[in-house]
Amino acid sequence: MVKIMRDFYKNKKIFITGHTGFKGTWLCQVLLSAGAEIIGYALEPHTTPSLFVQMRMEKNIHSIIGDIRDRDALIKAVQKAKPDIIFHLAAQPLVRHSYLEPALTYETNVMGTVNILEALRLTSSVKSFVNVTTDKVYENKEWHWGYRENENLCGYDPYSNSKSCSELVTHSYRNSFFSDKDVPAVSTARSGNVIGGGDYSDDRIIPDCIRAAQAGKDIIVRNSCSVRPYQHVLDCLSGYLLLAEKQFIDKELAGNYNFGPDDESCISTGALAELFCDVYGNGICWTTQGNKGPHEANFLKLDCSKAKAVLDWKPKWDIKTAVEKTVEFAKCKTDEEKLKCIDGQIKEYFQ
Ligand SMILES: NC(=O)c1ccc[n+]([C@@H]2O[C@H](COP(=O)([O-])OP(=O)(O)OC[C@H]3O[C@@H](n4cnc5c(N)ncnc54)[C@H](O)[C@@H]3O)[C@@H](O)[C@H]2O)c1
Repeated sequence: MVKIMRDFYKNKKIFITGHTGFKGTWLCQVLLSAGAEIIGYALEPHTTPSLFVQMRMEKNIHSIIGDIRDRDALIKAVQKAKPDIIFHLAAQPLVRHSYLEPALTYETNVMGTVNILEALRLTSSVKSFVNVTTDKVYENKEWHWGYRENENLCGYDPYSNSKSCSELVTHSYRNSFFSDKDVPAVSTARSGNVIGGGDYSDDRIIPDCIRAAQAGKDIIVRNSCSVRPYQHVLDCLSGYLLLAEKQFIDKELAGNYNFGPDDESCISTGALAELFCDVYGNGICWTTQGNKGPHEANFLKLDCSKAKAVLDWKPKWDIKTAVEKTVEFAKCKTDEEKLKCIDGQIKEYFQ
């Protein structure tokens, strides 16, 4: 796949919304290594530290700081860039924050999707569009099977639900405006819970583990029994990249795709914290507090048979490797070391 990807993305113009975030910065770095030209549109990096700043990404791409809710500015930016491909990642992506700011979450995640699809509709250069949603778009039945792409979309909390709405908006635009042969291929990508170096978000298990370990404190885990499909960020990005490439070449492949880990990497939050402690060392421990916060699903898995069969995609790094790679990054001391670490992981992954 690397060879195909390297050839395919070389000199392609890629527009990424949400490029200043965790996944967006990794996506920029992978695409830079594949020889692509990148235009990013997002808010200023919102964490301190921030991977975007650590990677000095601003120097290597055309970074536009703008709000996805500002339709005119977004349309202007896309029309000026004339990209070949768009990846839409900009979002308010945190479940717990969505309980604090539900309206902002819907404005960003739903109207943000409408706005980028409007930009797509008005820009003829684009041939491939991928809307990044989430594993949480499905109506959660708390069962042990993985959800398939044809199952009911109805997330419970404002974040999950806003992403279900983003799926529906994309579906309508695809039917209404993008069904002819010579218009862009439009897909949605639903990935699992992503881990990897440089995620500094609040209320996510691995960043919480790293913060605790670096402060020499015990890790406190909410909801230690909840099971999630954990995957390394490169596994999920390889899915997005392959989808954007394959549908660029064959529009018939456009649709909705799950990109999650194999079953053995769908583990409980407690098991993940245990694994993190083993890999990190230094005698760190975890303890559980029970979930005192708002509702979060207990059991969530994705069935990725479609991506495997249609796109020939498969996850490459299991949960242990994903945690090892994340800890390797966390233990780098300087930004130079971190950049080298990420470049090394990208090279190893795509070799
Ligand atoms: N990290 C995960 O585990 C995970 C899992 C499944 C799906 N996702 C999805 O992947 C995408 C990226 O997530 P992430 O983990 O990198 O999150 P992140 O918080 O690190 O990045 C979010 C990005 O969106 C941008 N953004 C937020 N509001 C904006 C606005 N109003 N206008 C313009 N840009 C705005 C931010 O500036 C940032 O660049 C999101 O769509 C998220 O829902 C993430």
